[in-house]
Amino acid sequence: TVAELDSSMIHKGEYLHFMEKEIFEQPQAVKDTLLYACNQENNCFSYESFSMRERDFKEISRIRVIACGSAYHAGYVLKSVCERLARVPVQVELASEFRYNHPILETGELVISISQSGETADTLAAVREAKKLGAKTLSIVNVIGSAIAGESDFVFYTQAGPEIAVATTKAYSCQLVAGYIFSLLLAKAKGKINDTEVHSLKDELFLLPGKIQQCLSLDSETLPMAKKLKDDKNIFFLGRGLDWAVSMEGALKLKEISYIHCESYSSGELKHGTISLIEKNSPVIALISQEDLATKSISNIHEVKSRGAKCFAFTMENISVEENDFTQILIVPKTRPLFAGSLLVVPLQFLSYQVSLLKGLDPDKPRNLAKSVTVE
Ligand code: G6P
Repeated sequence: TVAELDSSMIHKGEYLHFMEKEIFEQPQAVKDTLLYACNQENNCFSYESFSMRERDFKEISRIRVIACGSAYHAGYVLKSVCERLARVPVQVELASEFRYNHPILETGELVISISQSGETADTLAAVREAKKLGAKTLSIVNVIGSAIAGESDFVFYTQAGPEIAVATTKAYSCQLVAGYIFSLLLAKAKGKINDTEVHSLKDELFLLPGKIQQCLSLDSETLPMAKKLKDDKNIFFLGRGLDWAVSMEGALKLKEISYIHCESYSSGELKHGTISLIEKNSPVIALISQEDLATKSISNIHEVKSRGAKCFAFTMENISVEENDFTQILIVPKTRPLFAGSLLVVPLQFLSYQVSLLKGLDPDKPRNLAKSVTVE
Protein backbone atom coordinates (compact mmCIF):
# COMPACT_ATOMS: atom_id res chain seq x y z
CA THR A 1 0.00 0.00 0.00
CA VAL A 2 1.01 3.63 -0.39
CA ALA A 3 1.53 3.90 3.38
CA GLU A 4 4.20 1.22 3.26
CA LEU A 5 6.22 2.89 0.52
CA ASP A 6 9.39 4.76 1.19
CA SER A 7 8.29 8.38 1.45
CA SER A 8 11.10 9.57 -0.85
CA MET A 9 9.74 7.35 -3.60
CA ILE A 10 6.27 8.81 -3.43
CA HIS A 11 7.20 12.46 -3.18
CA LYS A 12 6.07 14.64 -6.06
CA GLY A 13 9.24 16.72 -5.85
CA GLU A 14 9.31 19.43 -8.49
CA TYR A 15 6.15 18.15 -10.12
CA LEU A 16 2.63 19.47 -9.64
CA HIS A 17 1.04 16.05 -9.68
CA PHE A 18 2.03 12.41 -9.46
CA MET A 19 0.70 11.90 -12.97
CA GLU A 20 3.13 14.46 -14.35
CA LYS A 21 6.00 12.94 -12.38
CA GLU A 22 5.13 9.46 -13.57
CA ILE A 23 4.92 10.55 -17.21
CA PHE A 24 8.44 11.93 -16.85
CA GLU A 25 9.67 8.74 -15.20
CA GLN A 26 8.83 6.67 -18.27
CA PRO A 27 12.27 6.64 -19.94
CA GLN A 28 13.77 5.19 -16.76
CA ALA A 29 10.87 2.80 -16.10
CA VAL A 30 11.09 1.42 -19.63
CA LYS A 31 14.86 1.12 -19.41
CA ASP A 32 14.62 -0.70 -16.08
CA THR A 33 12.08 -3.11 -17.54
CA LEU A 34 14.33 -3.82 -20.53
CA LEU A 35 17.29 -4.42 -18.24
CA TYR A 36 15.22 -6.64 -15.95
CA ALA A 37 14.50 -8.87 -18.96
CA CYS A 38 18.16 -9.18 -19.91
CA ASN A 39 20.47 -11.92 -18.85
CA GLN A 40 23.49 -10.14 -17.40
CA GLU A 41 25.99 -12.65 -18.74
CA ASN A 42 25.13 -12.66 -22.42
CA ASN A 43 23.09 -9.43 -22.53
CA CYS A 44 20.19 -11.18 -24.28
CA PHE A 45 16.52 -11.16 -23.31
CA SER A 46 15.96 -14.23 -21.19
CA TYR A 47 13.09 -16.69 -20.96
CA GLU A 48 13.85 -16.77 -17.24
CA SER A 49 12.76 -13.15 -16.80
CA PHE A 50 9.26 -14.56 -17.37
CA SER A 51 10.22 -17.35 -14.93
CA MET A 52 9.82 -19.70 -17.89
CA ARG A 53 12.07 -22.01 -19.85
CA GLU A 54 12.53 -22.12 -23.61
CA ARG A 55 10.48 -25.32 -23.56
CA ASP A 56 7.53 -23.51 -21.96
CA PHE A 57 7.58 -20.98 -24.80
CA LYS A 58 7.83 -23.70 -27.44
CA GLU A 59 4.72 -25.38 -26.04
CA ILE A 60 2.52 -22.29 -26.43
CA SER A 61 0.02 -22.76 -29.24
CA ARG A 62 -2.43 -19.96 -28.40
CA ILE A 63 -2.61 -17.07 -25.96
CA ARG A 64 -5.48 -15.59 -23.98
CA VAL A 65 -4.90 -12.20 -22.37
CA ILE A 66 -7.13 -11.21 -19.44
CA ALA A 67 -6.98 -7.76 -17.89
CA CYS A 68 -8.96 -4.64 -16.97
CA GLY A 69 -8.72 -0.97 -17.91
CA SER A 70 -5.41 0.19 -19.33
CA ALA A 71 -3.88 -3.24 -18.82
CA TYR A 72 -6.59 -4.60 -21.13
CA HIS A 73 -5.47 -2.09 -23.75
CA ALA A 74 -1.86 -3.18 -23.29
CA GLY A 75 -3.21 -6.65 -24.12
CA TYR A 76 -4.29 -5.45 -27.57
CA VAL A 77 -0.80 -4.14 -28.26
CA LEU A 78 0.62 -7.49 -27.17
CA LYS A 79 -1.81 -9.22 -29.53
CA SER A 80 -0.78 -7.12 -32.49
CA VAL A 81 2.96 -7.49 -31.87
CA CYS A 82 2.84 -11.16 -30.94
CA GLU A 83 0.71 -12.21 -33.88
CA ARG A 84 3.00 -10.35 -36.28
CA LEU A 85 6.28 -11.54 -34.81
CA ALA A 86 5.52 -15.01 -33.48
CA ARG A 87 2.46 -15.94 -35.60
CA VAL A 88 0.75 -17.31 -32.48
CA PRO A 89 -2.94 -16.35 -32.18
CA VAL A 90 -3.82 -14.09 -29.25
CA GLN A 91 -7.30 -13.41 -27.91
CA VAL A 92 -7.81 -10.49 -25.53
CA GLU A 93 -10.64 -10.62 -23.02
CA LEU A 94 -11.93 -8.39 -20.28
CA ALA A 95 -11.15 -10.12 -17.00
CA SER A 96 -14.61 -9.23 -15.69
CA GLU A 97 -16.21 -11.13 -18.57
CA PHE A 98 -13.90 -14.11 -18.80
CA ARG A 99 -15.44 -16.28 -16.09
CA TYR A 100 -18.98 -15.69 -17.25
CA ASN A 101 -18.35 -16.49 -20.89
CA HIS A 102 -18.02 -20.24 -20.31
CA PRO A 103 -14.37 -20.03 -21.39
CA ILE A 104 -12.91 -22.69 -23.64
CA LEU A 105 -9.17 -23.07 -23.27
CA GLU A 106 -7.21 -25.37 -25.53
CA THR A 107 -4.22 -27.50 -24.63
CA GLY A 108 -1.12 -25.37 -25.06
CA GLU A 109 -3.04 -22.13 -24.52
CA LEU A 110 -1.20 -19.77 -22.19
CA VAL A 111 -3.32 -17.37 -20.14
CA ILE A 112 -1.55 -14.05 -19.60
CA SER A 113 -2.95 -11.66 -17.01
CA ILE A 114 -1.74 -8.07 -17.06
CA SER A 115 -2.15 -5.90 -13.97
CA GLN A 116 -0.29 -2.97 -12.47
CA SER A 117 -1.43 -3.61 -8.91
CA GLY A 118 -1.63 -7.38 -9.14
CA GLU A 119 -4.69 -7.12 -6.90
CA THR A 120 -7.58 -6.38 -9.27
CA ALA A 121 -10.37 -8.70 -8.14
CA ASP A 122 -11.75 -9.36 -11.62
CA THR A 123 -8.31 -10.28 -12.95
CA LEU A 124 -7.50 -12.46 -9.96
CA ALA A 125 -10.80 -14.32 -10.33
CA ALA A 126 -10.09 -14.85 -14.02
CA VAL A 127 -6.63 -16.25 -13.24
CA ARG A 128 -8.19 -18.67 -10.76
CA GLU A 129 -10.75 -19.74 -13.34
CA ALA A 130 -8.03 -20.32 -15.95
CA LYS A 131 -6.08 -22.47 -13.50
CA LYS A 132 -9.20 -24.42 -12.64
CA LEU A 133 -9.56 -25.15 -16.34
CA GLY A 134 -6.02 -26.52 -16.40
CA ALA A 135 -4.28 -23.68 -18.24
CA LYS A 136 -0.77 -22.44 -17.53
CA THR A 137 -0.84 -18.83 -16.33
CA LEU A 138 1.68 -16.03 -16.73
CA SER A 139 1.16 -12.68 -15.03
CA ILE A 140 2.73 -9.38 -16.02
CA VAL A 141 2.47 -7.32 -12.84
CA ASN A 142 4.17 -4.32 -11.29
CA VAL A 143 3.80 -5.06 -7.59
CA ILE A 144 6.03 -7.72 -6.09
CA GLY A 145 4.24 -10.15 -3.83
CA SER A 146 0.80 -9.21 -5.14
CA ALA A 147 -2.00 -11.77 -5.21
CA ILE A 148 -2.06 -12.24 -8.99
CA ALA A 149 1.71 -12.76 -9.11
CA GLY A 150 1.47 -15.24 -6.26
CA GLU A 151 -1.23 -17.32 -7.91
CA SER A 152 0.27 -17.48 -11.40
CA ASP A 153 2.59 -20.23 -12.62
CA PHE A 154 4.93 -17.68 -14.20
CA VAL A 155 5.57 -14.00 -13.46
CA PHE A 156 7.20 -11.06 -15.21
CA TYR A 157 7.66 -7.97 -13.05
CA THR A 158 7.42 -4.65 -14.85
CA GLN A 159 9.86 -2.17 -13.33
CA ALA A 160 7.70 0.95 -13.20
CA GLY A 161 8.23 1.46 -9.48
CA PRO A 162 5.38 2.77 -7.30
CA GLU A 163 2.62 4.39 -9.33
CA ILE A 164 0.44 6.74 -7.32
CA ALA A 165 -1.75 8.61 -9.83
CA VAL A 166 -4.97 6.68 -10.37
CA ALA A 167 -4.66 6.91 -14.15
CA THR A 168 -1.73 4.73 -15.14
CA THR A 169 1.06 6.05 -17.33
CA LYS A 170 4.45 4.49 -16.63
CA ALA A 171 3.04 1.09 -15.66
CA TYR A 172 1.15 0.91 -18.97
CA SER A 173 4.37 1.82 -20.82
CA CYS A 174 6.20 -0.98 -19.05
CA GLN A 175 3.38 -3.41 -19.84
CA LEU A 176 3.87 -2.62 -23.54
CA VAL A 177 7.57 -3.36 -23.21
CA ALA A 178 6.88 -6.64 -21.40
CA GLY A 179 4.57 -7.57 -24.29
CA TYR A 180 7.26 -6.76 -26.88
CA ILE A 181 9.88 -8.85 -25.09
CA PHE A 182 7.47 -11.73 -24.58
CA SER A 183 6.59 -11.67 -28.29
CA LEU A 184 10.23 -11.52 -29.32
CA LEU A 185 11.14 -14.49 -27.12
CA LEU A 186 8.16 -16.45 -28.38
CA ALA A 187 9.07 -15.70 -32.00
CA LYS A 188 12.63 -16.81 -31.27
CA ALA A 189 11.56 -20.02 -29.51
CA LYS A 190 9.22 -20.84 -32.39
CA GLY A 191 11.92 -20.15 -34.97
CA LYS A 192 9.88 -17.38 -36.60
CA ILE A 193 12.69 -14.85 -36.53
CA ASN A 194 16.42 -15.36 -37.01
CA ASP A 195 19.21 -14.17 -34.72
CA THR A 196 19.91 -11.08 -36.80
CA GLU A 197 16.29 -9.97 -36.47
CA VAL A 198 16.27 -10.77 -32.74
CA HIS A 199 19.29 -8.50 -32.28
CA SER A 200 17.93 -5.77 -34.45
CA LEU A 201 14.63 -5.73 -32.54
CA LYS A 202 16.48 -5.74 -29.24
CA ASP A 203 18.68 -2.84 -30.34
CA GLU A 204 15.61 -0.87 -31.34
CA LEU A 205 13.97 -1.60 -27.98
CA PHE A 206 17.01 -0.23 -26.18
CA LEU A 207 16.64 2.98 -28.18
CA LEU A 208 13.10 3.44 -26.86
CA PRO A 209 13.99 5.11 -23.52
CA GLY A 210 15.87 7.85 -25.41
CA LYS A 211 13.03 8.30 -27.88
CA ILE A 212 10.48 8.43 -25.05
CA GLN A 213 12.71 11.09 -23.50
CA GLN A 214 12.45 13.06 -26.76
CA CYS A 215 8.65 12.72 -26.60
CA LEU A 216 8.69 14.41 -23.20
CA SER A 217 9.36 17.70 -24.93
CA LEU A 218 6.05 17.41 -26.78
CA ASP A 219 4.18 18.78 -23.75
CA SER A 220 4.40 22.33 -25.12
CA GLU A 221 2.90 21.11 -28.39
CA THR A 222 -0.05 19.31 -26.81
CA LEU A 223 -1.06 22.38 -24.80
CA PRO A 224 -2.64 24.31 -27.70
CA MET A 225 -4.48 21.12 -28.63
CA ALA A 226 -5.67 20.71 -25.03
CA LYS A 227 -7.01 24.28 -25.09
CA LYS A 228 -8.95 23.55 -28.27
CA LEU A 229 -10.45 20.35 -26.86
CA LYS A 230 -11.20 21.20 -23.24
CA ASP A 231 -14.77 22.40 -23.83
CA ASP A 232 -15.78 19.58 -26.14
CA LYS A 233 -18.36 17.06 -25.00
CA ASN A 234 -17.39 14.15 -27.26
CA ILE A 235 -14.02 13.35 -28.73
CA PHE A 236 -13.39 10.62 -31.28
CA PHE A 237 -10.17 8.67 -31.51
CA LEU A 238 -9.35 6.81 -34.71
CA GLY A 239 -6.68 4.31 -35.65
CA ARG A 240 -6.05 1.14 -37.59
CA GLY A 241 -4.24 -1.96 -36.36
CA LEU A 242 -1.75 -1.07 -33.67
CA ASP A 243 -2.84 2.56 -33.84
CA TRP A 244 -6.33 1.48 -32.87
CA ALA A 245 -4.98 -0.44 -29.87
CA VAL A 246 -3.12 2.67 -28.70
CA SER A 247 -6.07 4.95 -29.41
CA MET A 248 -8.14 2.91 -26.91
CA GLU A 249 -5.68 3.90 -24.21
CA GLY A 250 -5.56 7.52 -25.40
CA ALA A 251 -9.36 7.74 -25.19
CA LEU A 252 -9.52 6.06 -21.79
CA LYS A 253 -6.84 8.34 -20.32
CA LEU A 254 -8.64 11.46 -21.48
CA LYS A 255 -12.08 10.37 -20.29
CA GLU A 256 -10.77 9.12 -16.92
CA ILE A 257 -9.31 12.44 -15.87
CA SER A 258 -11.15 15.08 -17.93
CA TYR A 259 -14.66 13.57 -17.73
CA ILE A 260 -15.10 14.24 -21.45
CA HIS A 261 -16.75 11.41 -23.30
CA CYS A 262 -14.15 9.92 -25.63
CA GLU A 263 -14.66 7.06 -27.98
CA SER A 264 -11.99 5.07 -29.69
CA TYR A 265 -13.05 3.64 -33.02
CA SER A 266 -11.26 1.57 -35.59
CA SER A 267 -10.86 3.81 -38.67
CA GLY A 268 -12.19 1.11 -40.94
CA GLU A 269 -15.28 0.59 -38.81
CA LEU A 270 -16.12 4.30 -38.85
CA LYS A 271 -18.51 4.06 -41.76
CA HIS A 272 -20.43 1.35 -39.90
CA GLY A 273 -21.22 3.52 -36.90
CA THR A 274 -19.43 6.52 -35.50
CA ILE A 275 -19.56 8.54 -38.67
CA SER A 276 -23.24 9.24 -37.99
CA LEU A 277 -22.13 11.17 -34.91
CA ILE A 278 -19.72 13.40 -36.81
CA GLU A 279 -20.96 16.94 -37.38
CA LYS A 280 -19.43 20.37 -37.82
CA ASN A 281 -16.47 20.80 -35.47
CA SER A 282 -16.61 17.29 -34.01
CA PRO A 283 -13.10 16.70 -32.66
CA VAL A 284 -11.28 13.70 -34.14
CA ILE A 285 -7.88 12.56 -32.99
CA ALA A 286 -6.21 10.30 -35.54
CA LEU A 287 -3.28 8.04 -34.75
CA ILE A 288 -1.26 7.39 -37.90
CA SER A 289 2.02 5.62 -37.19
CA GLN A 290 1.79 2.50 -39.33
CA GLU A 291 3.24 3.23 -42.73
CA ASP A 292 1.46 0.39 -44.50
CA LEU A 293 -1.92 1.62 -43.24
CA ALA A 294 -1.39 5.37 -43.50
CA THR A 295 -3.12 5.86 -46.85
CA LYS A 296 -6.21 4.03 -45.62
CA SER A 297 -6.26 5.97 -42.35
CA ILE A 298 -5.97 9.26 -44.21
CA SER A 299 -8.84 8.40 -46.50
CA ASN A 300 -10.94 7.82 -43.34
CA ILE A 301 -9.88 11.27 -42.17
CA HIS A 302 -11.17 12.72 -45.43
CA GLU A 303 -14.52 11.07 -44.73
CA VAL A 304 -14.90 12.84 -41.37
CA LYS A 305 -13.40 16.08 -42.64
CA SER A 306 -15.93 16.30 -45.41
CA ARG A 307 -18.58 16.18 -42.67
CA GLY A 308 -16.99 19.11 -40.85
CA ALA A 309 -14.80 17.39 -38.25
CA LYS A 310 -11.79 19.21 -36.81
CA CYS A 311 -8.95 16.71 -36.99
CA PHE A 312 -5.72 16.32 -35.07
CA ALA A 313 -3.00 13.84 -35.98
CA PHE A 314 -0.50 11.96 -33.85
CA THR A 315 1.98 10.54 -36.29
CA MET A 316 5.56 9.35 -36.68
CA GLU A 317 8.52 10.88 -38.52
CA ASN A 318 8.66 9.84 -42.19
CA ILE A 319 4.93 9.35 -42.51
CA SER A 320 3.53 11.88 -44.88
CA VAL A 321 0.31 13.57 -43.88
CA GLU A 322 -1.20 16.67 -45.47
CA GLU A 323 -1.06 19.74 -43.26
CA ASN A 324 -4.35 20.92 -44.74
CA ASP A 325 -6.16 17.89 -43.37
CA PHE A 326 -5.38 18.70 -39.75
CA THR A 327 -5.75 21.53 -37.26
CA GLN A 328 -2.53 20.29 -35.69
CA ILE A 329 -0.06 17.49 -36.36
CA LEU A 330 2.09 16.03 -33.61
CA ILE A 331 5.10 13.98 -34.66
CA VAL A 332 6.95 11.40 -32.57
CA PRO A 333 10.44 10.12 -33.47
CA LYS A 334 10.80 7.17 -35.80
CA THR A 335 10.92 3.65 -34.42
CA ARG A 336 9.97 0.23 -35.77
CA PRO A 337 6.20 0.32 -36.45
CA LEU A 338 5.75 -2.50 -33.90
CA PHE A 339 6.91 -0.22 -31.08
CA ALA A 340 5.17 2.99 -32.15
CA GLY A 341 2.67 2.78 -29.28
CA SER A 342 5.40 3.45 -26.74
CA LEU A 343 6.02 6.83 -28.31
CA LEU A 344 2.50 7.84 -29.33
CA VAL A 345 1.17 7.27 -25.84
CA VAL A 346 3.39 9.98 -24.31
CA PRO A 347 1.81 13.00 -26.05
CA LEU A 348 -1.60 11.37 -25.51
CA GLN A 349 -0.86 11.30 -21.77
CA PHE A 350 0.20 14.95 -21.85
CA LEU A 351 -2.97 15.89 -23.66
CA SER A 352 -5.14 14.22 -21.00
CA TYR A 353 -3.16 15.75 -18.18
CA GLN A 354 -3.40 19.23 -19.64
CA VAL A 355 -7.12 19.03 -20.40
CA SER A 356 -7.70 17.90 -16.82
CA LEU A 357 -5.70 20.85 -15.45
CA LEU A 358 -7.38 23.35 -17.78
CA LYS A 359 -10.73 22.14 -16.47
CA GLY A 360 -9.58 22.69 -12.89
CA LEU A 361 -9.70 18.98 -12.04
CA ASP A 362 -7.31 16.87 -9.99
CA PRO A 363 -5.70 14.47 -12.49
CA ASP A 364 -4.29 12.31 -9.70
CA LYS A 365 -7.65 11.54 -8.14
CA PRO A 366 -10.43 11.36 -10.70
CA ARG A 367 -13.90 11.09 -9.22
CA ASN A 368 -15.37 7.62 -8.64
CA LEU A 369 -12.18 5.80 -9.63
CA ALA A 370 -9.79 3.82 -7.46
CA LYS A 371 -6.20 2.88 -8.21
CA SER A 372 -6.83 -0.72 -7.46
CA VAL A 373 -10.28 -2.28 -7.52
CA THR A 374 -10.44 -5.21 -5.15
CA VAL A 375 -14.18 -5.83 -5.45
CA GLU A 376 -15.94 -7.41 -8.39
C1 G6P B 1 -8.71 0.46 -12.12
C2 G6P B 1 -7.94 1.72 -12.51
C3 G6P B 1 -7.47 1.64 -13.97
C4 G6P B 1 -6.66 0.37 -14.16
C5 G6P B 1 -7.49 -0.87 -13.81
C6 G6P B 1 -6.68 -2.14 -13.82
O1 G6P B 1 -9.96 0.46 -12.72
O2 G6P B 1 -8.73 2.87 -12.32
O3 G6P B 1 -6.66 2.76 -14.27
O4 G6P B 1 -6.22 0.29 -15.48
O5 G6P B 1 -8.00 -0.72 -12.48
O6 G6P B 1 -5.77 -2.12 -12.76
P1 G6P B 1 -4.58 -3.10 -12.64
O7 G6P B 1 -3.94 -2.77 -11.31
O8 G6P B 1 -5.14 -4.49 -12.66
O9 G6P B 1 -3.68 -2.84 -13.78
